[in-house]
Amino acid sequence: MNPPAPHAFDGLAAQYAALEETPWQRLRHRLVTANLGRHLSAAHRSWLDVGAGDGLLAADLAGAGRRVTLVEPAADLRDAARHRLASAGLLSRCDIVDGTTDDVGRLVAARAPHGLSLHNVLEYVPDWVPALDGCLRPLPAGCLVSVLVSNPYGQLLAAAARGADPGDLLDRLRSGALTVGLDGHRFTRPALPAEEVARRMRTAGVRVVGRYGVRVFNDVLAAAAGGRAVDPEAVFALDRVAGEDPVLSHLGRHVHLVGEKE
Ligand SMILES: C[S@@+](CC[C@H](N)C(=O)[O-])C[C@H]1O[C@@H](n2cnc3c(N)ncnc32)[C@H](O)[C@@H]1O
Repeated sequence: MNPPAPHAFDGLAAQYAALEETPWQRLRHRLVTANLGRHLSAAHRSWLDVGAGDGLLAADLAGAGRRVTLVEPAADLRDAARHRLASAGLLSRCDIVDGTTDDVGRLVAARAPHGLSLHNVLEYVPDWVPALDGCLRPLPAGCLVSVLVSNPYGQLLAAAARGADPGDLLDRLRSGALTVGLDGHRFTRPALPAEEVARRMRTAGVRVVGRYGVRVFNDVLAAAAGGRAVDPEAVFALDRVAGEDPVLSHLGRHVHLVGEKE
């Protein structure tokens, strides 16, 4: 495994923005916000988005009237988020903070948020267990928590659909490794088993109220179509149902865990 890259997205805002426009990333966002929408209510008036990237989720949350604090270590992603939020007329409802998971305790004490998201961030921190715990323990009771992690099983199935070598797949399966990062800047990390993440959430006082697979079929279908676009509406409908299926949900490209602080 390569050593963890502390801020693997520094200087990659343009590449990150291009990735967000791909059909699979659009689907990821649509599925994640649909899952979260099942748990959100008007009571969740203020939100902390940790590892906020270029503010895509924050814009949705602020657009629905919430006060959002974005915590993001990469300067150019913070700039991109500021631009996105300003263009949408949402900047006045948002604070963009230069920080990491290490700053969450202080921010929670100051802002007592009603919700916190940590979407595909734990893959990039040096040690995910204390990082998750440090984000969740300080939260006030009733706070909604949304955690998204990459799923090595989904990665393997998508690689198989693209014609990967069985021997390589076996090595990857045995190593329990995750490939993370952007094209040209990829590295491997130990996987974050979803069951272990859910267990750590419970240990930090968060009751898990939703568990979803994100992109169960899309990546396999897209590979089989040989690059032809798969109908986005049809695949959204399919992956929404598959993401809640007790068996299929374990095979998604990401696992989405939603919880509530007790
Ligand atoms: C894969 S991106 C996900 C961005 C966003 N949460 C999303 O789902 O679209 C990972 C993000 O985590 C940020 N990040 C990296 N290390 C971090 C840390 N220690 N604390 C908080 N965020 C971090 C990166 O700069 C990047 O914006």
